[in-house]
Amino acid sequence: MKRLLPVVGLGLCASLSASAFAQQNATIRWMTGNTAQSVQFANEVAQRYMDANPHTIGGEEYNVTVEIIQGPESATDRYALYLQFFQAQSGEADVLEIDVIWPGDLAEHLVDLYEYEGAREAAEEHFPAIIENNTVDGRLVGMPAFTDAGLLYYRSDLLEEYGFDGPPETWAELEEMARTIMEGERADNPDFTGFVWQGEAYEGLTCNALEWIASFGGGTIVSQEGQIEVFNDQAIAALETAAGWVGTISPQAVTGFQEEDARRIFTAGNAVFMRNWPYAYSLLIDAEGPVTTENVGVTTLPAGEEGGTPAATLGGWQMGVSRYSSNIDVAVDFALFATSYEEQLQRALVVNNLPTIEAIYEDERLLNSPVAWFADLLPVFQSAVARPSTPTAPRYNEVSRAFFTAVHGVLMGTTDAETALGELEFTLEELTGLPVAGGAQDVASR
Ligand code: GLC
Repeated sequence: MKRLLPVVGLGLCASLSASAFAQQNATIRWMTGNTAQSVQFANEVAQRYMDANPHTIGGEEYNVTVEIIQGPESATDRYALYLQFFQAQSGEADVLEIDVIWPGDLAEHLVDLYEYEGAREAAEEHFPAIIENNTVDGRLVGMPAFTDAGLLYYRSDLLEEYGFDGPPETWAELEEMARTIMEGERADNPDFTGFVWQGEAYEGLTCNALEWIASFGGGTIVSQEGQIEVFNDQAIAALETAAGWVGTISPQAVTGFQEEDARRIFTAGNAVFMRNWPYAYSLLIDAEGPVTTENVGVTTLPAGEEGGTPAATLGGWQMGVSRYSSNIDVAVDFALFATSYEEQLQRALVVNNLPTIEAIYEDERLLNSPVAWFADLLPVFQSAVARPSTPTAPRYNEVSRAFFTAVHGVLMGTTDAETALGELEFTLEELTGLPVAGGAQDVASR
């Protein structure tokens, strides 16, 4: 033992003096989704950061390598994978994409970005509501990368051909248009359908079903004040309406669709309407297929009834840094880079994700691009309906699972909407311990 001591001492001296004068190498791993488009964009971001090497971080110079790890595309599966990492306290991924609904559930495993250089100033650039969403007990656990909102895509050429003046304003109008156009188009194209959306039992279905329910005036599952409000007449009517689309204006298989399944059918020219997020637009720009930005319009989703309010679910992703990372300083620096003004602008232009920095909506480069319409829809994005992740944290993921499972049963016809939502109300009470907002009495007293 004794003989080793001087050797260890020497090694320490050597590495200390080296770090004071030379660059250190660091590798950080960034977990992204796995669509071809998002992976390609992530590689471009990583490359731009590496092109700017060396980075001075906390007074040290680093030569950084950013590696991309592709995670599952489904938010529900990605959440499960993160939990595995965190439970094992694994630093497998240093930088993680965090869905807008996860800060409250995952806060304990994420670094407080405010403790690092530049984060406070950077946070001031973003929409305050999203920063507030990402702040848990005063700790900023994610820097916004982009926001998201559900939209209605429609085939403007077909609407015109069949004599409709414009996109539907209510779900009933959408049904009528979809039916008429489907009947006509099926003569030549047996694969043609009316309306594609996300009906698989996963987080995407929570987003779709929240839009139906909110647009019928049926609330937001659990209110932001923390009252369970999912069991009410409007919510029941909304789910019954959507269940009626399955196998009629929507394919039977819609109950197994995620975003990309719907998107592929729509871009192949096999549907009139699609519910999707803004990213889907980027795959229509310069597209070679039958469907391009030339014959597609994008607008707000329909309202439950005439004079009702349309609803878009609020989505979006943040960059968070794992507490178990062995390179936290470097990972935070990269997260700040990837969420900066220029990077958000590139994101908007290349993959059509909505910026969270308001000034970008007025940037000439955006206004002269195919997504100049982002600026027109800014009020829609800013009034998007939040899922109840804050009032139910840290159990939102379980709340959402109970909700999408109940909704999926209704879509599959295994249960009716009233039974499913009544049972869900009990499940949510047990899961969250939150009070019921009187919905049970409303229905029971009819
Ligand atoms: C989008 C949204 C995200 C949502 C997910 C559901 O990625 O940005 O918030 O949870 O879709 O599929």
